[in-house]
Amino acid sequence: MAKIAILGHGVVGSGVAEVLRTHEESIARRAKEAVGIKHILDLREFPGLPYSDLFTKDFDKILKDPEVGIVVEVMGGLEPAFSYVKACLQNGKSVVTSNKELVAAKGAELLALAQEKNLNFLFEASVGGGIPIIRPISQCLAANEVTEIAGILNGTTNFILTKMIRERMAFSDALSMAQQLGYAERDPSADVEGADACRKICILASLAFGSHVYPEQVHTEGITGITLEDVAYAEAWGGVIKLIGEVKALPNGRLHIQVAPMFISRESQLSGVDDVFNGILVRGDATGDVVFYGRGAGKLPTASAVVADVIDCVKHMKARKYLYWEDAKPDHVEPFENAPQDFFVHVMGQGSSEEAFARAEEVFGDIKRLIRRGEREGEAGFTVRGLSQGQFSEKAAALEEKGVHLLGRIVISEY
Ligand code: HSE
Repeated sequence: MAKIAILGHGVVGSGVAEVLRTHEESIARRAKEAVGIKHILDLREFPGLPYSDLFTKDFDKILKDPEVGIVVEVMGGLEPAFSYVKACLQNGKSVVTSNKELVAAKGAELLALAQEKNLNFLFEASVGGGIPIIRPISQCLAANEVTEIAGILNGTTNFILTKMIRERMAFSDALSMAQQLGYAERDPSADVEGADACRKICILASLAFGSHVYPEQVHTEGITGITLEDVAYAEAWGGVIKLIGEVKALPNGRLHIQVAPMFISRESQLSGVDDVFNGILVRGDATGDVVFYGRGAGKLPTASAVVADVIDCVKHMKARKYLYWEDAKPDHVEPFENAPQDFFVHVMGQGSSEEAFARAEEVFGDIKRLIRRGEREGEAGFTVRGLSQGQFSEKAAALEEKGVHLLGRIVISEY
């Protein structure tokens, strides 16, 4: 029997224990060996469970147990998860994790350590929850040059935006509802400010392009500034607003990578990904677009991905699954300011909406006006093509000098 230890008995950890127990027979058949939990590390008490006797508060007990060959880390956060995972790999134990903070910050280091020790470090559940995406990119699409990835990678924000779009619910009300339904944490800042999606696109970028992209290198915008007016302009344009993480290989060899709310055309595969669902589009030179859709979070979807990695580990106890990327390359990420993009721009002038639009035309040149229902006096919305962020900022300053104030701007996606 393969003996495993689970670090953390929160939402995902308890799901992993549940899936391992309820699917015991089929897992043994697929792993070609029974898989049993020997220890669960958690500082809390869990009396009354059928496996309450497995709990320990002592990580060393797990580290020093020679019977444990695989450790599942589902604690979340960088520390102590990083120290524990590193210690496990240094002591000959393969590791499976769902921890996106850990993989986004320390993936290159841990993959190198796993390679040195001929162990597995697997993290299918770190992006897209129950959606297979790490293995498809590293194995199934391996014959392709992946050129672009774009995804709705955060269920909490997708739920909030869906409520804003479908029910015209204000951002703060939609966030409260997400919290009541358990789709958002009490502190939702990592979700609504885009940090969670940023970690996930960094993991996918590192995997697809072979060298680590750190969250600090990525331009990140969240959805806290998105208003119902923006939603109405997106509708007038023919689409919806989604929080998108995207990475694209540029002809100069660098990566364009960003997380931002974007206008998405109704015709895009990603526009119909609603509620807490995630959708990830991978563009390969041989395959064209491949789209993955499903539950990106939650106890059992995430546990399903974790346990699948455990099965893979059990089947490859003496061999390494090829999963590797190098540490960050200098100048691999194109400065965000350089990338030309299309934008939706929302302004407020001092006279009529027509006057505000005319001033915008003087500054921006060829722009296209959008008119939303209920437009206020002096308010104007328009789209502009192919401006870098640097050029955009200059134009916005010139517009301000003409008495027209920038209320906001939203990237228009190409997907
Ligand atoms: N809050 C995150 C989401 C959890 O909704 O996607 C999974 O990373």
